[in-house]
Amino acid sequence: MTDDHGARLAAVACESVIMHSDEHILEYAGSFRLVRKIAQGGMATVYEAEHLGPAGFAKRIALKVIHPHYAKEKTWLQLFIDEAKLSANLVHGNIVQIYQLGEVEGQYYIAMEYIKGPTLRNMIERHRELDRLIPVHVAAYVTSRVCRALDFAHTYAGPDGRPLDIVHRDVSPNNIMSTWDGHIKLADFGIAKAKTSSDPMDASPMLMMGKKHYMSPEQILGLDVDGRSDVFAIGVVLYELLTLEPLFYEDATELLIDEVTWRPLPNIREKVPAVPKAIEEALMAALDRDPAHRPTAATFGKTLDRWCEAQSVVATPDRLQDHLAALFPTTYQPSAAGAEITRFSNFKHGLRRNGAHQRGWFGRLLHGMRV
Ligand SMILES: Nc1ncnc2c1ncn2[C@@H]1O[C@H](COP(=O)(O)OP(=O)(O)O)[C@@H](O)[C@H]1O
Ligand SMILES: [Mg+2]
Repeated sequence: MTDDHGARLAAVACESVIMHSDEHILEYAGSFRLVRKIAQGGMATVYEAEHLGPAGFAKRIALKVIHPHYAKEKTWLQLFIDEAKLSANLVHGNIVQIYQLGEVEGQYYIAMEYIKGPTLRNMIERHRELDRLIPVHVAAYVTSRVCRALDFAHTYAGPDGRPLDIVHRDVSPNNIMSTWDGHIKLADFGIAKAKTSSDPMDASPMLMMGKKHYMSPEQILGLDVDGRSDVFAIGVVLYELLTLEPLFYEDATELLIDEVTWRPLPNIREKVPAVPKAIEEALMAALDRDPAHRPTAATFGKTLDRWCEAQSVVATPDRLQDHLAALFPTTYQPSAAGAEITRFSNFKHGLRRNGAHQRGWFGRLLHGMRV
């Protein structure tokens, strides 16, 4: 057996152990039913799941189960829990909502809003495959919605009225999703702080790949960051949406630091002449190396909105929905195309079949609400 083969077998064995232990734990927790594994990353495995309640109630959620080696690291765990507590109350239409942070037998999980639709990474890749640029109004609309999410978090105040200084720290195409009906959601608030401050996997740079290419100069240098760091990151994302190329691509960290902190940025209008001057100016302001010269997320978002509103084709969720339908014809699933078959909807159909909705108050209520 070659070393390579051995390593592959070990990896498969290791995966099945992790899978088994996740499922065991979740079964033990008793309130979740796993529907399917969505993705397995360096830090966590994400499942589509149902959160079960009494009388057949079942709510579709995403469940992020943190790999055990992270949870064993005390500093990491504390940061992770602190940040999750901070972001738990960020309830905003453009933020993936956290429902619960749970722990069973030392294994941690986050239950959150389940987003049915592609990530920006999926959208960028699909456009590359088709060799077609993302229309500027779509890129500007998506970015402006992420700016709204960021502004909400950056200015979010605690019960005493003082801002909590929440910073996302991991704004990147993987963490921005669109529902099939065109609503933009920013995911994973608060996870990055734990991840970058005390990462037990730091010794394995492969597992960190991707994210560091969206860091601001101050973040990649390990300096203090505030909301302006996220503005830089969303600027890096907008650049990629418009050009379909990453702004920063160096893999070796020292070279990447040079690239992010001082090397001249490419001229976007030389690469993509169709990018309007106003968008270029807003983008370059967000990408200013000096955080003091960057706009706030609110200002950046408003500048993009103003440009969007002046176009003949005004970007809306409906327009993005149409765009996604054309882009992903085989996987596109608008929410109106059929109710999810949850136990709750089965319960409702059961009531209808029995004519219960015509007799009991609960049936009438269900009928009236058209749930
Ligand atoms: N709330 C969610 N709803 C649906 N899918 C999700 C959700 N959160 C994450 N995902 C999916 O799981 C994948 C892995 O997520 P994650 O573990 O955060 O790693 P990364 O953000 O690096 O891709 C995402 O790329 C996305 O496809
Ligand atoms: Mg993520």
